[in-house]
Formats: sequence, structure tokens, C-alpha cells
Amino acid sequence: MKNTAATIKEQKRKGEKITMLTAYDYSTAKLMDSVGINSILVGDSLGMVMLGYEDTLSVTMEDMIHHTAAVARGAKNAFIVADMPFMSYQVSVSQAVENAGRLIKEGRANAVKLEGGATVCEQITAITNASIPVVAHLGLTPQSVNAFGGFKVQGKDEAAALRLISDAVAIQKAGAVAVVLECIPYKLATYVTSILDIPTIGIGAGNGCDGQVLVYHDMLAMYDDITPKFAKKFANAGEVMKEGFMAYIRETQSGEYPSAEHVFKANTDDNIDYEKLAAQLFEN
Ligand code: KIV
Repeated sequence: MKNTAATIKEQKRKGEKITMLTAYDYSTAKLMDSVGINSILVGDSLGMVMLGYEDTLSVTMEDMIHHTAAVARGAKNAFIVADMPFMSYQVSVSQAVENAGRLIKEGRANAVKLEGGATVCEQITAITNASIPVVAHLGLTPQSVNAFGGFKVQGKDEAAALRLISDAVAIQKAGAVAVVLECIPYKLATYVTSILDIPTIGIGAGNGCDGQVLVYHDMLAMYDDITPKFAKKFANAGEVMKEGFMAYIRETQSGEYPSAEHVFKANTDDNIDYEKLAAQLFEN
């Protein structure tokens, strides 16, 4: 069954937790889809975990479209949300609608995500009015890393908590279909979840949210440039990959690989004398 903005809202109503993971390519998306993930976020975190930037700021619309299209080819049932990269929606409302449209039309996403609260409500409404579902993102919004002075937990004092609550109410009113709450105190996330009709998807925001999202490289231990406290390692794929790479190097160097089972044979039972055959070429 295809997951949509409506089905994840229904999950909230029924108290069923929503599962979301990031993916950036066809095969990973296909694997996640095959085990029943509700939603895949093509996050601009791809700038860090796939492209090796130190933050998400250099990610372009072309990067996002390229990776979203690959994910969309792999995932048939997951609700696919594509991040709007830095400066693709801040400059003007019309630019935001145009870029959101490209992620749907060229990337085949089902929804777009953008960061911010009251300051981006006009964009949320305009994109929604263009029949594009919008997921909001509050708390530690990585595109504001320079304004925050680093990747820091947000909403820790009363003033910041009040701002976040007011932003959450504003984005829902503007038309957002869900909101990611990143790195905020878990009691604040639980409270916000209780006052919103739309689902909250937490990352570093505790289990009082309606769902969870993780960057898959973090939860599979494939990326250790930054190791956030909330990123539980559900499997050590990084180690398994390294073991595989090392075995390949070892066997290739020793000549053990490729063995008989990995090679092709000629039609004539391998009885061709290649030296004799090639001699025809060199006779004259
Ligand atoms: O870009 C991303 O992967 C995200 C998640 C961390 C929520 O926005």
C-alpha cells in the first residue's frame, strides 16, 4: 500500500508510530521499501554523508533532483519526501513554489521538506496551494548552522521553547502535513506532539513524537565524521563493508578471485587455440 500524507496522519490518529529513514539512491530505497518503511526522506544530509561536505549548505537543486529521482525509482510504497536545499526557498515565495515543483515533477517526490517556522509560512502555504504537500522542520535546522554557531540542541530555555511552540502552531496553520522536530528536549517534543493534529517526526527529540527519522548512514554505522547522541547503531554495516573490501583486496592480490565459478567459457568447450587463431592476423 502506498504511504501518503493522509496515511501518516491516520497513523497519528491511531497511535501507530511512523517510520522514516533517509535514502539517496535506488538500491537503498528499494531495500527500505521492501521491508515496509513508511516514509523515505531524501535529506540534504546527502551533502555530508554522500558528498563529503562538512555541512548541508552546498547542496544544490540539481543534487536533490538527481538523488530524489533515483530513490523514487526504487521505492514504490514509501511516502517520498525531498529536502529543499539551502537558498532554494528563502529568496522568494515564487522561487520556493518553482523549486518545490521541480522536486515533484523531475524528482518524482511525493512531498517537499523545508526548514523554519513563522518565517517560511508564506512559502508553505503557496507550495501547498500548488497541490504539493509540505513537511516542515523545526529545532536544530542544519541549514542555519552558521546562525546557531554549530550543530546544537535547540529549545532549551523558556523563550526558545515558546518560539518553537509558536512556530509549530504556525506551520500547521500554514498547511504543513507533518513536521520534523530535530534535537530538542524530549518533553518539549512530546508537548508539541500533543497539541498538533499533524504528525511529528522526531530525530533527537525522544519517543513522545508520532514517528522517528534517522540518517541511515548513522543507524548502520557507516559514517563517523559526526556521531550524534541520538543516533543508535542498529547494525554495524560499516564494519561488514570494510570486511568485504578487505577480503576482495586479499583474494584479488593472491589470485584466489576470480575462481572457476566466476569465469565465462567459449562456445567450443574452450578448445580454441588462441595463439593459432591470432597468427592469421599477423601472417602477412
Ligand atoms: O537532511 C536530513 O537528513 C534531515 C534529517 C536529519 C531530518 O533533514
